Amino acid sequence: MGKHNKISMDFNKKPFTVIYEITRACDLVCLHCRAEANTNRNPLELKTTEVFNLIEMIKEFEKPYPIFIITGGDPIKREDIFDIVYYAWRNDIKVALTPSATPLITEEVIKKLKESGLNRIALSLDGSNEEIHDNFRGIKGTFNKTFEILNYADKYNLETQIHTTLTEFNYQDIPNIVELIKKINPKLWAIFLLIQVGRAKANNLKLINPYKLEELFNYLYDLSKEVNFDITTREGYHYRRVIIQRKAKELNINEYELLQKVIKEKLTPNDLIDNKKSLIRRAPFGVNDGKGMIFINHVGEVQPSGFINLSAGNIRKQSLKDIYQNSKLLNDIRDYSKIKGKCGVCEYREICGGSRSRSYALTGSYHNSDPYCIYKPKNYLN
Ligand SMILES: C[S@@+](CC[C@H](N)C(=O)[O-])C[C@H]1O[C@@H](n2cnc3c(N)ncnc32)[C@H](O)[C@@H]1O
Ligand code: SF4
Repeated sequence: MGKHNKISMDFNKKPFTVIYEITRACDLVCLHCRAEANTNRNPLELKTTEVFNLIEMIKEFEKPYPIFIITGGDPIKREDIFDIVYYAWRNDIKVALTPSATPLITEEVIKKLKESGLNRIALSLDGSNEEIHDNFRGIKGTFNKTFEILNYADKYNLETQIHTTLTEFNYQDIPNIVELIKKINPKLWAIFLLIQVGRAKANNLKLINPYKLEELFNYLYDLSKEVNFDITTREGYHYRRVIIQRKAKELNINEYELLQKVIKEKLTPNDLIDNKKSLIRRAPFGVNDGKGMIFINHVGEVQPSGFINLSAGNIRKQSLKDIYQNSKLLNDIRDYSKIKGKCGVCEYREICGGSRSRSYALTGSYHNSDPYCIYKPKNYLN
């Protein structure tokens, strides 16, 4: 434990990742899409030069620069995507892309992305077969296209990452999805815990209940020891608590003792999970919406996450650094003394905090407790 590179970063000053929704256009019609994407681009999207300017703004955070994640919609709907990736690469910024699996991605596109300096491509896999996946993504052929793209990525030596959005519909399918992912052997498997916004809300999609979620986290912990790829949960920050609890049990030490060590030494999940071969920079425990992670939407509004449609400012008018460090909204969401209920008094608050996005989506306040965690903090009298 503890041999990995430490990242001491003050999340009040600097994000670990900058996520940029380059467009909301997308040719898929996923049941859960937070962006409610449709095929057309918004003419008010940031222009190429404005995106270059955003990359210059990322540099204001100084080295090590935050990781730049270009998302959507579908980033491939923009023909300037190669120039933008190249601009980031030339400026020494690590860039990852999350395109949609559509016929727009050909072998030539993957080759060009790699040549432009792309570090990693993240693809979604929400089911272990065509029926489940294509139903979810709304377009037939998406499942097979995903594997075609993965083959191209392999051919051109492009790192891959798999995203799976968890809902009550694919929960039972997770073990089958895992078998597929073992074959793909990506760098990272990120499980997105559904947030009921956008089309997920309109379609009344549901996440699994918190007890099943706890079971799943324990299963993921066991799995993480036997596979070569890293596993993380998005908007499921309480997986960190489970990692610490399980590790403490194995070491036969008190969980709160281990928690204090994690906080003090700013450990990352990889520091606690043995059997990790990857040397990729992983965020320390503690990153949460607007805290270590920031989202910029297609027209330049800066948000705590893609699931919280509140603006902290617009990069057309203000620098990203200024917004990140000084906006009222971001300082408010980062102030954990304001969190109410269980998460507010939880021993794990500093490294977890619960999903601020889920609290906001389900309760209307990002200062409420995450309703999908079963943990009972010692100081919680209820
Ligand atoms: C915004 S998408 C963009 C990339 C691409 N269009 C895709 O869907 O893979 C990035 C990730 O967020 C996930 N996502 C979208 N809507 C969501 C929601 N309501 N709750 C949780 N995750 C969601 C997607 O499934 C995807 O894995
Ligand atoms: S109660 Fe809240 S802060 Fe504590 S582990 Fe659960 S989600 Fe995290």
